[in-house]
Amino acid sequence: MSIIFEPNNKIFTMQTKHTTWQAKVSKYGHLLHVYYGSKVEDADLSYLIRGINRGFSGTPYIACDDRGYSLDTYPQEYSSWGSGDYRSSCLEIEHEDGSRAAELLYVSHKIYDGKYILPGLPAIWGKPSEIETLEVLMKDRSTEIEVILYYSVLEEYDVITRACKICNAGNKPVFLHKALSACLDLQRDDLDMVSFHGRHAMERILQRNHAQHGKMSVGSVRGTSSHQANPFVILCDQTAGEEHGECYGMSFVYSGNFIAETEVDQINQTRFTMGIHPDGFRYLLEAKEAFVAPEVIFSYSSKGFGTLSQNFHDLYRNHLIRSTFKNKRRPVLINNWEATEFDFTEKELVSLAVSAKELGIELFVMDDGWFGSRNHDKSGLGDWFANREKLPSGVKGFAEKIHKLGMMFGIWIEPEMVNEDSELYRKHPQWCLKIPGRLPNLERCQMVLDMTRKDVRDYLFEAVSKVLDESHAEYVKWDMNRNLSDVWSADLPGERQGEVYHRYVLGVYELIERFTSKYPDILWEGCSGGGGRFDAGILYYMPQSWCSDNTDAIERITIQYGTSFGYPISCVGAHVSVSPNQQTGRETSIETRAAVAMAGTFGYELDVRKLNEEEREKVKEQIVFFKKYYDLIHEGDYYRLTEVGKRTDLAAWQFVSKDKSESLICTVMLQAKANPPFLRLRVRGLKEESLYHMEGTETFYKGSALMHAGINLPVVYGDYQNVNFVFQEVLS
Ligand code: GLA
Repeated sequence: MSIIFEPNNKIFTMQTKHTTWQAKVSKYGHLLHVYYGSKVEDADLSYLIRGINRGFSGTPYIACDDRGYSLDTYPQEYSSWGSGDYRSSCLEIEHEDGSRAAELLYVSHKIYDGKYILPGLPAIWGKPSEIETLEVLMKDRSTEIEVILYYSVLEEYDVITRACKICNAGNKPVFLHKALSACLDLQRDDLDMVSFHGRHAMERILQRNHAQHGKMSVGSVRGTSSHQANPFVILCDQTAGEEHGECYGMSFVYSGNFIAETEVDQINQTRFTMGIHPDGFRYLLEAKEAFVAPEVIFSYSSKGFGTLSQNFHDLYRNHLIRSTFKNKRRPVLINNWEATEFDFTEKELVSLAVSAKELGIELFVMDDGWFGSRNHDKSGLGDWFANREKLPSGVKGFAEKIHKLGMMFGIWIEPEMVNEDSELYRKHPQWCLKIPGRLPNLERCQMVLDMTRKDVRDYLFEAVSKVLDESHAEYVKWDMNRNLSDVWSADLPGERQGEVYHRYVLGVYELIERFTSKYPDILWEGCSGGGGRFDAGILYYMPQSWCSDNTDAIERITIQYGTSFGYPISCVGAHVSVSPNQQTGRETSIETRAAVAMAGTFGYELDVRKLNEEEREKVKEQIVFFKKYYDLIHEGDYYRLTEVGKRTDLAAWQFVSKDKSESLICTVMLQAKANPPFLRLRVRGLKEESLYHMEGTETFYKGSALMHAGINLPVVYGDYQNVNFVFQEVLS
């Protein structure tokens, strides 16, 4: 039993392997947050909640004689606007009379085996034997608004997920102005917020700020989770690092607008809230309608970021990703984008594929430019049929040629978009998001299709299915190359326009669900101009996402470092590209580029025909190496050995098999130095007492020596040099 209800004191205790979450129904019926942190067994921790009479922090009417009891200072499980809690709210409702308030009181609860279901939304899943759920029904004191708070406990993973449903059980319509998914009230003010900001071609750069009085938030109002902010954040104590310290990780399982906010209040408590961003959000709930707020995943570690990340990695690999490629090896691919961009012929692509096949590459991916009038980014999006000038025998004929080579065939699509210069737009100008009477904002000369519309989704499903059927594609890259603006749907009445952002995401999910159920054996890769929609929501449907349009190995170290805090290596789309790099002009060796791409899905994205013989031999070896250590890399524990940003001389990361018998350590020595100091590296996660053999040498090391004393790194010549180490446990 991981969820226990103690009826006398009305306490809910949720236990995972190393953590405890406790909540309590107060004597006045509010659901208070008691504790979340390291495991405490058999204890009522509600003594932690205290109240004293504080000026300007009021008291609920029914508690008027109890002036220490204030919703403004007491920790809440789900906060609401308008009834005396002046801190960040989760719920803001406008009732029919124009009033905006809610005071949620406990009504009843259910505890059951298995996971709660969020229809139409991605979420963590699992067997009833692996997950236990608590549902708490709350009701507004004065209206028929009900809120069901969901909690699911994955004991083994140190994970608790949350979501909620807001139901209008009354007879009159209401508007939701804010419907966040979760709140965490911690009675402490010593927390930093770690978030991941970025931009196109430079995503998920770690930023750490102390949460101070007032609000601090990150989020997106771009219609997607965005390059600029990621819906994964950490709250940690100010001393926390990779191997020590308390940290709380929160991941929003959603691919649209979001907010993650901390607020330190007047008495030095920190409130964290997460959910759909309230900007641009206004949701009409007619009588008897309900709104489901997407899932937030919580995990806590008292052992620093390393363990926290591993919790998320294990969880996603086993209980988020559903693809058949969860348990199947993914092929090493070549993508033609950086080699040709839009400028290719079938003949050229076949010759690229032939050359790639010789190297051991298994999958050929035809990127943008194969359809309609798509010879540049100004036209063609929406017309999902072959450009016969480039592909005289159609996608079918081209795919046959690839298959004949003994390679798998993959294809790029960008279903959510349309160019004005396209047959689709000319036929259905109402199918895109734009506001009547306004000239829409353009990005990359394209507009966003109205994914809230079923007719739009049906068209896309049919047109793209045709291509997949005739080509027998084994891989699809689903791109999305702009943000939403001018958000207005011709299909919805005025009073529902505030729902379009959310309905857009639901529409995208519905369409992807249709595709992935019809084509379960296809390997689906998400993409949004690189990593502009890199989130747990997308990963539920597609097991990997292109991490960044920046393929420079050195910049990728920073991008992939940030990404690794919340997401497993097996999700990180990463390719070896040309040197000098197309985005930065930086030169790096093929070894360094491969080492970085191997901390991901691994593939190539360059004209391999132009590699010299020595490089081609190296590529062959890299593919053999990657396949040899595939399980270790994709299934093992991942360790960040250096802190990007702090160290300018070295970047290092490590994979350790779950049984600790094998480990791969990758290093990139960033800056060459004359008369250099010696570099040494301590590794992690091995067995202290075991003996390990360093592959390719006659040297043996004790696990404790490797972890506490470290290994010597060689003195290298030239910037950005890569050195890898493999250790195998010697069984006595
Ligand atoms: C986006 C993707 C790239 C490539 C181009 C094609 O930018 O991230 O990998 O597919 O689109 O237009």
